[in-house]
Amino acid sequence: MSHSRALFIPVILGTARMGRRSLHAARLVTEELGKCAGVETELIDIARLPLPTNDAGEAIKHAEFSAQITRADALVIVSPEYNHGYSGLLKHVLDSCLKEYIHKAVGIVGVSAGPFGGTRVIENLLPVMRELGLVTIFWDVNFSSVQRAFAEDGRLLDESFTRRVDKFSKELIWMAKTLRHGREQISRD
Ligand SMILES: Cc1cc2nc3c(=O)[nH]c(=O)nc-3n(C[C@H](O)[C@H](O)[C@H](O)COP(=O)(O)O)c2cc1C
Repeated sequence: MSHSRALFIPVILGTARMGRRSLHAARLVTEELGKCAGVETELIDIARLPLPTNDAGEAIKHAEFSAQITRADALVIVSPEYNHGYSGLLKHVLDSCLKEYIHKAVGIVGVSAGPFGGTRVIENLLPVMRELGLVTIFWDVNFSSVQRAFAEDGRLLDESFTRRVDKFSKELIWMAKTLRHGREQISRD
């Protein structure tokens, strides 16, 4: 297995809502992932992707987003929980790619104001991940009561989240390496 090339693991922030607290979670995850040896990451903010809304799927593929997903070995999706689901815009963005996702790892970070840390939005995202060809890991991060986890300026108030993100990152990196080995070394014939 080649260890020379860094893994690329972008973090997708799955909401464009004004005042979104998920931004703090996405920044923390990006920062912690970026500290991992052999990992490159960047934050992909779906609010900044100018996708049309009068069509859907690969017809509205955004060249830069597609290139980022093609380059990625794994993804992190940071999603707030909106009535137990994910934002329509996140789905719209995810649907714009297809082959770019296949046999790549994904980890999901749920964010909620309530006590369950987005567990229900994570459950709702799992079948979508499978349909896209992504391979989910068995760790999540759940930012429950996110308004207490971060200060208004984004400063982390509960350090226990750093440990949870690190544990999640280790599992995601293992899966990313394993799947990269498979994509590059194992024939599908
Ligand atoms: C339309 C909408 C629906 C929501 N539904 C839920 C919910 O089902 N469960 C929950 O814990 N919080 C819910 N919330 C609160 C969000 O989880 C909260 O805003 C949190 O900060 C994460 O979302 P944000 O990144 O948009 O801030 C909802 C918020 C909005 C705007």
